[in-house]
This record gives sequence, structure tokens and C-alpha cells, in this order.
Amino acid sequence: MKLVAGNSNRPLAEAISAYLNIPLAKAQVKRFADMEVFVEIQENVRGEDVFVIQSTSFPTNDHLMELLIITDALRRSSARRITAVVPYFGYARQDRRMSGRTPISAKLVANLITHAGVDRVLTLDLHAGQIQGFFDIPTDNLFSAPTLARDIKERLDGGNRMVVSPDVGGVVRARALAKRIDAQLAIVDKRRERPGESEVMNIIGDVSGRSCILVDDIVDSGGTLVNAADALLANGAKEVYAYITHGVLSGGAVARIASSRLKELVITDSILPTEAVKAAHNIRVISIASLMGEAIARTATESSVSSLFD
Ligand code: R5P
Repeated sequence: MKLVAGNSNRPLAEAISAYLNIPLAKAQVKRFADMEVFVEIQENVRGEDVFVIQSTSFPTNDHLMELLIITDALRRSSARRITAVVPYFGYARQDRRMSGRTPISAKLVANLITHAGVDRVLTLDLHAGQIQGFFDIPTDNLFSAPTLARDIKERLDGGNRMVVSPDVGGVVRARALAKRIDAQLAIVDKRRERPGESEVMNIIGDVSGRSCILVDDIVDSGGTLVNAADALLANGAKEVYAYITHGVLSGGAVARIASSRLKELVITDSILPTEAVKAAHNIRVISIASLMGEAIARTATESSVSSLFD
């Protein structure tokens, strides 16, 4: 068994390698002078079960190309099986045709990964579970919920917690976490009553006096979270936390979160945290290295991955 890391999140790859007690394979993943991707695997992988660790996070196109080219190098070097370990699967947000003349980028990316020569995929909290079906190769979609639930139980008072979905689309995910921590569920329902009028936030559920925990898969601009936190506090919530799997945090998101009324935003290290994220007073990062590492170990030994979530 071999572990190969792209450049998207070296610290996570090293933490997974430490969990498994298997060193990262020697490989060069760098750039030609014109920024094309150059790859050279510097040890024998013939007949090996190889796991390529690479989130397709910002800069997404570069990291996706690295994943495809590393896979091509491994396939041509006679690796026995190649598993793409993609903790954050980018290009997931255009996953269906909401209107005419739009792509299904998630399907295109699934095709690219498959055609490059990947045999199986290991990913985490896909934006939409059905993206799993875009791959015609075995794909395990892991859940961060047990990791997040453990942290919540350690930090927040049991009797007063309330899980909140920041939009109607996220209710299934939020309900699953609420069940794990034995908490009630509320929902933020965003509506624009008339075209041109600003959105109204209705809260479904009584949040007064509660410690609210917003749960989502992605925080990108931070707008969804900050607006939901304001609406919850306006409806009497005592305090608002957010537990989000993938800290995309683009543009001015970190500043927006830092100056918001969110008590704390907890994200995982599925995406490499920037220096700004590390310095933010109300953002904390928890690691999914042991979860990913354990799933890799179970894949390698052909044992159950789903039982990780029982
Ligand atoms: C939407 O479907 C996602 O689950 C997130 O709610 C969304 O991507 C968050 O985006 P932003 O942080 O830019 O509001």
C-alpha cells in the first residue's frame, strides 16, 4: 500500500500518513516554467494499492489537474489499484440542470477522474449525496458528523443545544447531526416575497434562549451563515455556533465571519486552512485525518467502511 500526496493539503496528507504509520511516497508534483503540471513518482508502485490524497479545492483547476496527472503516472507505472482520496470534492455545486444551457460540472469532473484511471473514490460530505452516483466506480462518501458531534458534546451544554439548518436544502444533513447529539432541529427558511424585495428569514422552530448550532457542508462567502446567525439572534437565540465540513472561505469570508455575531465557526481541515483562517479569533479547525486514515485502512484491508458511522 502506498500514499501519494498532491499539493492541495500537504499537512492533512502528512497527518493521514502519521495515523496509518505509512510514509508518503516520494513524488515530485511541481510546475513547468509555464505552470503546466509536472509529475514524477520516485519509487516503485508496480502492483501496489495506491491512495492519492488530493482535495480539489482552490485553485481548483490546478488541483484537479494534479490529481488527474498523478493518476495517469500511477496507471502507467502499473499500480494495481488507484483510490482517489478527495476530502473536498470541488465543482459539486452545479450538480443538476437548474435552468437551460447550464452544465452538470460535477458529472464532468466525475468522468474526468474515472477516465484518468482511478479505480475507486473516497470522499467526504459531498455537496449532494447523489454525486456518488455520477461515478461508475465504487465511491465511498464519508460523513464528518461523528467528528463534529464529538466536538459539540465536549463543548456545548447538552440540555440547551439546538441544531439549525441554514436553508431548507440542508435539512437532511442537519437532522442527522441533531439525532447524533440528541438535540432538536430548527430551520431557516429564506424567502423573497416579491421580485426586487430583500429576502425574509423565517425561523421554523422555537430558538429562544437556545445555543444554536448551524450545520452545513460548505461555507464559501460566509453570507448564508452570517445572515442566518443574525436571524436566529433576532428570534431570541442565546448564542450561535456553526459547524461546517468544508471551509472554502473565499474572498472576504474570513473578515465577514470575524466581524459577525457568530460565537464560533468550526470547520474541518478537508481544505488547507489559510493563515487568515488560523488567525481568526472565532474560527477553529478540527482534523478529519483519523477518519480519512481509518477509511483508507479499511479500504486496503477490504473491511467495512460504512460501519465507521454506526
Ligand atoms: C448551498 O447549497 C451550500 O450548502 C452552502 O449553504 C453555500 O454554499 C454557502 O455559501 P456562502 O457561504 O457563500 O453563503
